[in-house]
Amino acid sequence: MTAMNTNGHPSTVTVLPQTKYLLSLMTVIRDAQTGCPAFVNAFEKVCTQLMPAALELLPTESRDVTTPTGTVFSGLSHTQPICGVSILRAGASMETSLRNSYLGPLSYGKILIQRDEETCLPHYVYCKLPKDIANKKVLILEPMLATGGSAAKAIEVLKDNGVQESNIIFVNLVASRKGLEVVMKKYPDMQIVTAAVDNDLTASNHIAPGLGDFGDRFYGTT
Ligand code: URA
Repeated sequence: MTAMNTNGHPSTVTVLPQTKYLLSLMTVIRDAQTGCPAFVNAFEKVCTQLMPAALELLPTESRDVTTPTGTVFSGLSHTQPICGVSILRAGASMETSLRNSYLGPLSYGKILIQRDEETCLPHYVYCKLPKDIANKKVLILEPMLATGGSAAKAIEVLKDNGVQESNIIFVNLVASRKGLEVVMKKYPDMQIVTAAVDNDLTASNHIAPGLGDFGDRFYGTT
């Protein structure tokens, strides 16, 4: 039987604590009246909660340092280099936040997956990944997990490049319940960190209540 966490999700899924502060940020992000600068501002504040939650899942080892008082402090440091892989274009919005959060060796990769306007199916176009990605922990950066189709394509690209499923953490702003179930079932060893799980998908596969088209709202291309 799958182990469940306190949110009622499998233990591979971390949903950020639904604090009043987080909900106030998500309210700004979800409001159709919110303009681009306020959207970006609120999103970046949510990212400052998502990244530490994702980094919490990385392996660490003990590290003693001597403070300026000459006393030893028993701390820790991360043991494995990480790579942030953005699913373009929306995922690139999370790169700065990862850079600001992580103190160890960090590299980046990109995967471009486009949705076919007629079939609504994801179509893999391009990827650029570090050569040694197979030895790294990989944080997939993707704000919206709708049907799970693009996510699955990106995960397959990473696996084809030697990344183990258990070395992948999917970092996300809003997941649909259906998309979450699809990727959890298909990739049971992958970890997922999200700020919100929404119940529905619209006929055009937008998450509902959701926030509309993330890329358009973040980049101001509405
Ligand atoms: N991508 C978006 O930008 N929004 C959605 O609701 C689903 C996918």
